[in-house]
Amino acid sequence: MIKTNVEFDGLRSNLYEEAITQYPCARTEDIKVMKKLLNPQPGDKILGFGEGNGYFCNSIANSIKSAGYYLITDPSKDQLNNLERKINVNQIKIQKASVENISLPSNFFDKVWSFGAFHHCNNKIQAMQQLYRSLNPGGKLVICDVFQGSDLAKHFDSFVARYCLTGHEVSFLSDEFALTLCELAGFQKNKIEIIDLDQKWKFNNEHELGDFIYKLHALTKIPGSEKEKISKTFESCKNVLGVSRSSKSHNNLLELNWPMKALVAIK
Ligand SMILES: C[S@@+](CC[C@H](N)C(=O)[O-])C[C@H]1O[C@@H](n2cnc3c(N)ncnc32)[C@H](O)[C@@H]1O
Repeated sequence: MIKTNVEFDGLRSNLYEEAITQYPCARTEDIKVMKKLLNPQPGDKILGFGEGNGYFCNSIANSIKSAGYYLITDPSKDQLNNLERKINVNQIKIQKASVENISLPSNFFDKVWSFGAFHHCNNKIQAMQQLYRSLNPGGKLVICDVFQGSDLAKHFDSFVARYCLTGHEVSFLSDEFALTLCELAGFQKNKIEIIDLDQKWKFNNEHELGDFIYKLHALTKIPGSEKEKISKTFESCKNVLGVSRSSKSHNNLLELNWPMKALVAIK
C-alpha cells in the first residue's frame, strides 16, 4: 500500500502539539544535541526536513540570524500550521513536502537537519541523493533518528505500532544501511559518522511522563480510560526504555531513556 503521508494530520497532530506545548522542558537535551552537531551559525543556509510542529525551528532560525536562510519542510499541513503559529522571523521559508519530494536547488545549503523523521521516508536512497545534491561542497548532513536493534526501536514496534491512532509502519536504519546510503549518494567514506545519542527526556513525575508519550505518539488505541492509557504508557516506557531519578542537584527529575543515533556526513 502506498503511504499518503497524512499520518500526522488531524488528531495525531493536535496531540503532538499538546505534548510539546504542555511539557516544554521535556526535550531540552534534544536542543543541546542540535546545537552540538548542527551548530547553526549566523549566515548559514539550512534545510530542515520532517520538522513537524517546529520544536527546533526557533532555536535554529535565531542562531542563523537575518543573514541566514532556513528552509523548513514537513509533509503534514497540520504540523506546519502549528509550526507557523510559533515562528516569526524573516529568514525562513516553509514548504509542505516529504523529504523525497522537496523541491531543492543544487549546491546551495551549508547544512541539512532532521530529528526523528527519516524512518518515515519510503525511499531513502532517492531522499539521500536529493539531500546530497542540495548541499554545498563541504556541507554537513545531520540526521538524528531511531536505529534498528535499539530499545527505542523496540518501544515503537511493540507499543506505538500497536496503539498509535494512525499506526506506525516504518523502516528504521541499521548502521550498515545508513553508511551504504551515504556512500551511494556520494558522501566520502571517511567523512561519515554514526554517533550514539543517549538522550534523556525529563519529567516531574510518572503521570507527566506517561501523558507526554501518550500524546506525542497519539496512543489512543490503548484500551481503557484516559487515566489508564497514560498509566499503561508509563509502565511500558519503564519496562522497555528504562526510567530513573536524577540527583537532587539535577532537580530530582524522572528521566526516560531515549536512545537515538546521529548520522553525520560531510559532502
Ligand atoms: C516524530 S515527528 C518529529 C518532528 C520534529 N522533528 C520533532 O523532533 O519534534 C516526525 C515528523 O516526520 C514527518 N514525516 C512523515 N513522513 C515524512 C517523510 N517522508 N519525509 C519527511 N518527513 C516526514 C511527520 O509529518 C512528522 O511531522
